[in-house]
Amino acid sequence: MRLAGKKIVLGLTGGVACYKIAELTRALGKAGADVQVVMTESATHFITPVTMQALSGNTVYTDQWDARVNNNMPHIDLTRDADAIVIAPCSTDFIFKLAHGACNDLLSTLCVARPAHLPLLIAPAMNVEMWQNPATQRNVQQIKADGIHLLGPAAGDQACGETGMGRMLEPEQLLTEIIASFQAKTLAGKHVLITAGPTFEPIDPVRGVTNLSSGKMGYAIAQAAWEAGAIVTLVSGPTALDAPHGVRRVDVQTAQQMFDAVVAQLKQHKQDVFVAVAAVADWRVANASTQKLKKTNEGDAPQLQFAQNPDILASVAAMPNAPYCVGFAAESENLLQYGAAKRQKKDVPLLVGNIGHHTFGKDENELVLFDVHGHTVLPRANKQALAQQLVAEIALRSSLI
Ligand code: C5P
Repeated sequence: MRLAGKKIVLGLTGGVACYKIAELTRALGKAGADVQVVMTESATHFITPVTMQALSGNTVYTDQWDARVNNNMPHIDLTRDADAIVIAPCSTDFIFKLAHGACNDLLSTLCVARPAHLPLLIAPAMNVEMWQNPATQRNVQQIKADGIHLLGPAAGDQACGETGMGRMLEPEQLLTEIIASFQAKTLAGKHVLITAGPTFEPIDPVRGVTNLSSGKMGYAIAQAAWEAGAIVTLVSGPTALDAPHGVRRVDVQTAQQMFDAVVAQLKQHKQDVFVAVAAVADWRVANASTQKLKKTNEGDAPQLQFAQNPDILASVAAMPNAPYCVGFAAESENLLQYGAAKRQKKDVPLLVGNIGHHTFGKDENELVLFDVHGHTVLPRANKQALAQQLVAEIALRSSLI
């Protein structure tokens, strides 16, 4: 329930993307938000107030002169206890209205009358030519300068059959953006590099050695770092997960490829923080076959030889001007002893320990943070909540060095 206790005024303006807001309304409700829908007259041509009322569980307002509001001032009443206004979809015309402070319907009046501290987020949705039109772009620059926060738009196929910039973000992306808007920006503008998932070391073109890491913890940390305002690159081994919204993902298979990708990222841009969450194979198959291995009539099993992989974390930590390095340790026993020892061996300021075989693939975890002063426990919680706490700890600690 990441939006528990939040009241969101959800404004709909005219556009075919209105049909996606039914989904967003449900998702906001499931995340714990109280959703107050306000629609322009044009929006009601695309989706009915009845639908929006059923999904939000609240009376829908469309009219400045709605006699159901006791004092007849819906433009004041609806925003005074709100935590954010989200306009989705936001039309070209509504961006024009926001840029010029127009007050000619309930939604535009409500935006102008909102308290100065109340965040206003808009999700533009329009045809590519309308988005690129110089007048629209002038208005977009103006509303950005006025502190209005833009969610998207994205590029892609459009309902009109054309392709380009102007697609509204998908409902789950909008939900992520709205949740992120409430998070403290403790890593604002910082570059954070993360490894996650397992590695896959080939035996032959169709077989390989891997491990049970699902990538969930590393992906949750990437998401939490982005929510905290960081520019995040995720170097990921093979997982079944989608890249977190806002995060750039580089896909790799082997430990050597992961090492090369991390070094390439460090060369491309100075990184402030490096979090090594990946369960990297310590060994690769030295005599991997380029052709599929065949069973022999004699039943001989292939003889595999192993060679050591580079230690990515230790290598990065040893670089001159190294980023603030955070390691992970998945142990099956003696976590307190092994965790403290591993932090010293890898020579990193922070090492995060967990009982590995209990957490792989699960949604919950329990973490122990080892630093120079000793250890702290982050009690059992879901991986998103833990990732958020860990990112706050990293932000605090990395700003101290
Ligand atoms: O040595 P061990 O594998 O237990 O260390 C775990 C930590 O080191 C994790 O942070 C993991 O991502 C990192 N690691 C690495 N490269 C390796 C092995 C581990 O970056 N080859």
